[in-house]
Amino acid sequence: MPFHVNPLSPASAEITGLDCSRPLSSGDLAALRAALVAHPVVCVRGQKLDARRQGDFARQLGPLEPQDRSAYSHPDDSDILILSNDRRPDGSQIGIVDAGDFWHSDSSHIAEPCRYTMLYAVKNPSKGGDTHYIDMRAVYDALPAALKRRIEGREAIHHISKTLNPRVAVSAERAGAAEYYKAREKDRAPVAQPMARTQPESGRPALYVSPRFTIGIAGMDDAEAQPLLDEIFRFMFSNPAWRYTHKWRDGDLVIWDNACLVHMAGGGYEYPDVRRMHRATVAGDKPFFRAA
Ligand SMILES: [Fe+2]
Repeated sequence: MPFHVNPLSPASAEITGLDCSRPLSSGDLAALRAALVAHPVVCVRGQKLDARRQGDFARQLGPLEPQDRSAYSHPDDSDILILSNDRRPDGSQIGIVDAGDFWHSDSSHIAEPCRYTMLYAVKNPSKGGDTHYIDMRAVYDALPAALKRRIEGREAIHHISKTLNPRVAVSAERAGAAEYYKAREKDRAPVAQPMARTQPESGRPALYVSPRFTIGIAGMDDAEAQPLLDEIFRFMFSNPAWRYTHKWRDGDLVIWDNACLVHMAGGGYEYPDVRRMHRATVAGDKPFFRAA
């Protein structure tokens, strides 16, 4: 092993002894990929990355997903998205202020969602700012047989618009957010995704729905689908052993696999206590389910 992998929970690990500011050797890259299969949340400690270096590092795992919020892209690398509650002197936001405030898997609302997300902690607030994860492979494995049968072969409907989803709320902190999501209702089509998704490298199935983006079930009336989704979400939250909470340290670069996790930003800090994260997302393929 060219660097050290120390498990933090069943789903997560920290890596020490890896410098992400320099190109990875083929051995390091293979070992990083293997670590991500074993632990779908990996934190590489002690990094010093400007936006260009973070982008270069991320591209070694695959092409990056273009950002659709260009107003919040980093000026030095447009594939890096700024997530922050910081403001310019004129009061305008420098980044997305309410990113990830409900449980989700990144970009499940598009046909080919990003596979990996990399978040680099530029500035942590003095308190709060944790990121929470649920291992959806463990949730799928534990699903009661009757619930598993009800989702078998089914697809769920995902949509980016918060205003179409009664399970979430639009942040009052972000100027123009309600208008943004209203516009997405019209210009984004709903996307069907398998309700269980196979992690390609391991063959392990994971539940693939989320309160943030899943708004219905294909071919099922809402009268049946919404209570079923509620039951699934209750089950997903029922066991703390499936969770991992990341408490950020300066220099953390956290990489996670969206094929088998949902995550949520925990909040708990307020401007002028500033949190600033830089995000890159590695493009992915169409999710699929293959019976084991
Ligand atoms: Fe996210």
